[in-house]
Amino acid sequence: MSIRRLPSELVNRIAAGEVVERPASAVKELVENALDAGASAVSVRLSAGGLDLIEVTDDGCGMAPDEMRLALERHATSKLPGDRIETVVSFGFRGEALPSIASVARLTLESRVRGADGWRLTVDHGEAAGEGPASLPPGTRVRVEGLFDKVPARRKFLRSPRAEYAASLDAVRRLAMARSDVAFSLEHDGRKILSVQPSDTPTRVAALLDRELERHGLGIDCVRDGLRLAGVTSLPTFNRGMADHQYLFVNNRPVKDRLLVGALRAAYRDLLARDRHPVAALFVEVPADELDINVHPAKTEVRFRDPAAVRGLIVGGLRSALDEAGHRSAAREQFAAAVNWQAEPVTPVSPPVDALTTLFETQSEPASAVMERTAQFAAPMGRAEAARPISPEAPRYPLGVARGQVAATYIVAEAEDGLVIVDQHAAHERLVLERMRRANDGGEVARQTLLLPEVVELDELDCDRLEAASAELNELGLEMERFGPSAMLVRATPAPLGKTDVKALLADLAAELAELGTALALRDRLDHVAATMACHGSVRAGRVLSVAEMNALLREMEVTPHSGQCNHGRPTWVKLANADIEKLFGRR
Ligand SMILES: Nc1ncnc2c1ncn2[C@@H]1O[C@H](COP(=O)(O)OP(=O)(O)OP(=O)(O)O)[C@@H](O)[C@H]1O
Ligand SMILES: [Mg+2]
Repeated sequence: MSIRRLPSELVNRIAAGEVVERPASAVKELVENALDAGASAVSVRLSAGGLDLIEVTDDGCGMAPDEMRLALERHATSKLPGDRIETVVSFGFRGEALPSIASVARLTLESRVRGADGWRLTVDHGEAAGEGPASLPPGTRVRVEGLFDKVPARRKFLRSPRAEYAASLDAVRRLAMARSDVAFSLEHDGRKILSVQPSDTPTRVAALLDRELERHGLGIDCVRDGLRLAGVTSLPTFNRGMADHQYLFVNNRPVKDRLLVGALRAAYRDLLARDRHPVAALFVEVPADELDINVHPAKTEVRFRDPAAVRGLIVGGLRSALDEAGHRSAAREQFAAAVNWQAEPVTPVSPPVDALTTLFETQSEPASAVMERTAQFAAPMGRAEAARPISPEAPRYPLGVARGQVAATYIVAEAEDGLVIVDQHAAHERLVLERMRRANDGGEVARQTLLLPEVVELDELDCDRLEAASAELNELGLEMERFGPSAMLVRATPAPLGKTDVKALLADLAAELAELGTALALRDRLDHVAATMACHGSVRAGRVLSVAEMNALLREMEVTPHSGQCNHGRPTWVKLANADIEKLFGRR
């Protein structure tokens, strides 16, 4: 690796601006450098959120002393061998990071190339502050102390050490997800925060975000029009109250892009309530000429030549993975943990002592008589059928064969590998919605033509957005056209919405188009109507079902997409594996 000074015409093309805004930006740059140097292990140490100390150590290729001096000059880089920024595959390409950090802190660079001796070089706020031999294993260690100490204007805008630490953790997490083949560790104020060994991507993502994701995540891998999408996304039943665990990588570079938020919303549209969010780490690969990586001073944003294609790839890819997951639900095994099942009743209905005595004394009585007697203090809610061997066809049914109903609300079924409990109302509601949707699939949504077309005034940009989306909206039953620079003329509205406030609908749609680049509002409303109708038309909790009805419901769930969760993202069924039942009874 040889470092060169970039020619000035190239320097001028590089996105200018502040490289180091806060400790997390320095952490990100230093870890990226370690990865670019071919490290197989990177360790990060922080004190006081990185304000007192940031230290990044790697076992990469290292630098010779004269390379170290050059590395601290502006626009000196080993990563742009040609003049095409577009084709760069390394994280860095500008030769900006080290000198920028060194200009606002005291930076000590120690490095050693394999087979040579180590060297140390210190720069204090842009001024050389000594150098000399250093002893360290092959690789590089960069120490940054007192960041922004002498830059009050910057320091003033920093948040608490806690918040700065959180931002650094996020930066390390993103890079550790992007490079699951590299070991990472992070220490803050002497506490070990994370430590991960090389693994595959799904394992790494789960280790960094949530271990549960290994069981409740779906692997994605698809190709469309030369673009590839891979990664992990959560089953709808495994969701969060915040959209904070959603990560996008483009050509393996962690990026932040609103496009991801919109695409995830669209993909989980009818599977999650609006205030619940999936967990996802998605890796998009696009040809280098489809992408501009040189648009942001911190390299955290990219520009797609065709954002709609990328959005389509994500929505389509996730949607088909979710469709395939079919009736799976995150809660399926959630309840498998023995702790979630009570080994003893919490509040046992305690019969009067004399009743108990009578019960035990009359063991020789016929069972029916005992049952009758016990009924007075613990009325059974369930309807159980007599025990019988599992039917020979049961192995074919993942949700099992219905055995009975509990509290007139839950179906209890026996599957080959465990005990299944189904919430009959939630499940049926979902089935009805999916049925209605299939019926709609064939054609367009029915529309209701307005007696008098309605003119809705909006600002010009909103009109542009609505006009651009009008073909899509037309399919959903909303017929409109441009009416001068700042108004739309609405001719028909979707019939299922009934009488509706057209102006409010258009305003919602325009806002959503601006924010997400997609018109979810109308689909959401239509879904909401369908869901409400589904809710009214479905089996209520409290209705007694026959065994045949229960089995029919189970069979339909098995073949219906998304039957694993209700319309609000809650599970419709849970399973307790036979092995776990055995554990509960201490047989294992
Ligand atoms: N940990 C490291 N191991 C080996 N070489 C390094 C390391 N960190 C920096 N370098 C060398 O120093 C050069 C300058 O690093 P710097 O981060 O300033 O710029 P860059 O990575 O080339 O581009 P960018 O500004 O986009 O990060 C790199 O090109 C690389 O050759
Ligand atoms: Mg760099």
